[in-house]
Amino acid sequence: MNSKMKAAVCRRFGPPEVLQTKMIDKPIPKENEVLVKIHAATVTKFDCWIRSSSRMFRFLMRLVTGIRFPKDTLLGTELAGDIEAVGKDVTSFNIGDQIFAYLGMRMGAYAEYICLQEESVMATKPINMTYDEAAAVQQGALSALYFLRMTNIQRGQKILIYGASGGVGLFTVQLAKYFGAEVTGVCSTTKIDLVRSMGADKIVDYKKEDFTKSGEIYDIIFDTIGTSPFSGSVRSLKNGGIYLFVTYGILRSIRARVHNLTSSKKTVSKIVEETTDDLLFIKNLIEEGKLRVAIDRRFPLDQAAEAHRYVETGRKKGNVIITIVDS
Ligand SMILES: NC(=O)c1ccc[n+]([C@@H]2O[C@H](COP(=O)([O-])OP(=O)(O)OC[C@H]3O[C@@H](n4cnc5c(N)ncnc54)[C@H](OP(=O)(O)O)[C@@H]3O)[C@@H](O)[C@H]2O)c1
Repeated sequence: MNSKMKAAVCRRFGPPEVLQTKMIDKPIPKENEVLVKIHAATVTKFDCWIRSSSRMFRFLMRLVTGIRFPKDTLLGTELAGDIEAVGKDVTSFNIGDQIFAYLGMRMGAYAEYICLQEESVMATKPINMTYDEAAAVQQGALSALYFLRMTNIQRGQKILIYGASGGVGLFTVQLAKYFGAEVTGVCSTTKIDLVRSMGADKIVDYKKEDFTKSGEIYDIIFDTIGTSPFSGSVRSLKNGGIYLFVTYGILRSIRARVHNLTSSKKTVSKIVEETTDDLLFIKNLIEEGKLRVAIDRRFPLDQAAEAHRYVETGRKKGNVIITIVDS
């Protein structure tokens, strides 16, 4: 058995070039773990954020989350692949299962193999998706679902999704439609067709219009990228409405907390808590044909740095894939 595997490692933190392909030890599953042969992973803004992070930031992350960054840090929070071996205590997965999984802050998907505990946020992949597609579901769909549930979205409510063309945005559009809302997507001119094809009822092209000046009032404003104007967004909400941002910013969070003390319009910003139950809920919707993914570009593992450079532009349409096994 080959004891080495290829991986895109982050040996120091900095610009995309710090990502280098190396041969490193192939992991061996413990009794409660499965060994996954990874076919596809994604590059998210979170990966770029960690890669470019400062020493102080990593120290604070370690204090808050307990996560250590080893000498060879492996990025990548989402993957799809095959189970190649199972530990003796594993009961819910078998060798040969095709799975998709969300790793979150644990990361490690930029490699040919990973060991995952049986209780990880992991399930057999949707039968109607390729590995590339299945790898691109988790972060966007789980975040969109988590936040939409938090808003208690109801049939007929009006929601505006700011940043509708991104990884989180496209799933928010589809899930908000699934929950019966009237969806307005805010995106740039070149992405209108895509956002509409995912079910948006109305589009605001932010290159041409400012949604805060249209006079439209919403039950929910869902900002996936963190640049919607705070005061204008609050003004565009009904009384009792919710202004929600997926990206975390200290200044915005402080402003939100102060705002919440005096207003009936609530602002919300949180870290998503991903669960296997939610992953299974998403999987069912995919298999029923109610959710799909948009893949923008694919890069081989050797070009992980290129993929990071592209994601960092903030212009991607949906998802960017690292293809590890060509299917
Ligand atoms: N809270 C949590 O736990 C949590 C969980 C998951 C993700 N996140 C965060 O959520 C964020 C969103 O991630 P993502 O993957 O969806 O980002 P992304 O895919 O990179 O989204 C960028 C998209 O937004 C569009 N855009 C840029 N400026 C815009 C503007 N002013 N108005 C409307 N659209 C604009 C871009 O297209 P154009 O440039 O053509 O407009 C692009 O399609 C990330 O920062 C991620 O870290 C947080």
